Amino acid sequence: MSARKPLIAGNWKMFGRRADLAEMTALAERIGPASAAIDVLICPTAPYIAAAAQTARITPILVGAQDCSPVADDAARTGEVSAAMLAETGAGYVIVGHSERRQFHGESNELVRKKAEAAMAAGLIPIVCVGETRAERDAGRATAVVAAQVAESVPDKGSNLVVAYEPVWAIGGDRIPTVPEIEEIHSVVRRTLAERFGAAADGIRILYGGSVSPKNATEVFSAAGVDGALVGRASLKAADFAGIILAHPAAVR
Ligand code: 13P
Repeated sequence: MSARKPLIAGNWKMFGRRADLAEMTALAERIGPASAAIDVLICPTAPYIAAAAQTARITPILVGAQDCSPVADDAARTGEVSAAMLAETGAGYVIVGHSERRQFHGESNELVRKKAEAAMAAGLIPIVCVGETRAERDAGRATAVVAAQVAESVPDKGSNLVVAYEPVWAIGGDRIPTVPEIEEIHSVVRRTLAERFGAAADGIRILYGGSVSPKNATEVFSAAGVDGALVGRASLKAADFAGIILAHPAAVR
C-alpha cells in the first residue's frame, strides 16, 4: 500500500442544506476509527462552511470549499469569495476546476491554476480536478487531454495539493471506467506530476471521482494508484458515504 494517506472527499455541490450538516456527525459515528487512517473531507456550499467547521470540531471530519477566487488579496470582486476568507471560515481544502465549473462557468486551465495558486497562498490544499469528456475518450484522446490539463492547471509553487481524476462522462450517472482505464489515467497523472515535481510528486494524492458508490467503491479502491475518491451524490447521506469509506482497505474496523 502506498505511503500516502488516503483522502475520501465529499463534494456536496449545490445540495446539502443546514439541516444536512447533521449527516456529518452521523458519518463520524458510522466510520469510527477508520478516520484515523483515512482523511475524510466534506465540502459543502460556501454559506455552510462555518457551520460545518463548527460541527466538525466534535468529529474528525475535515471541511473544504468547492471553489475560490483566483484573486489572492482582498479586492473589489463582487460575488467572489477569496481563499483566505474560506480558510478563516474553517476550510482546509478547496476544490478547483471541477468539470461543472469548467462547463457552466467557462473556466480555463489557466484560471484553474490561478485559483489553485490563490488557495495555496492562503494555506488551503487545492483539489485540482481534471478529466476527459466522452467525445475525447471515444477519439482516443483521454490520456493526452488529462496530461495537458494537469500540466496547465497545476501550479508550480509547491506540491501540497491533490489531483482528482473525474471523467466528465462518469459524473452524475451510473457508469464508471474499468479498473484498467482508471489505472491508465492515474499513471499518466502521476508521470506528469513527477516530471514537474520530481520526488516530491510522490506525496501528491490522486483521487478518482465520478459515480463512486458503496457498490463500486471496493473496485475503485482496488485500482493501482488511486489514493482515494471525490464523491458527489453518495456523500450526502452518512450511510452511503460511510459505505464508501469503510470499503477502503485502510479502514480500521
Ligand atoms: P457523482 O459522485 O454524483 O457522480 O459526482 C462526482 C463528482 O462530480 C464529485 O466531484
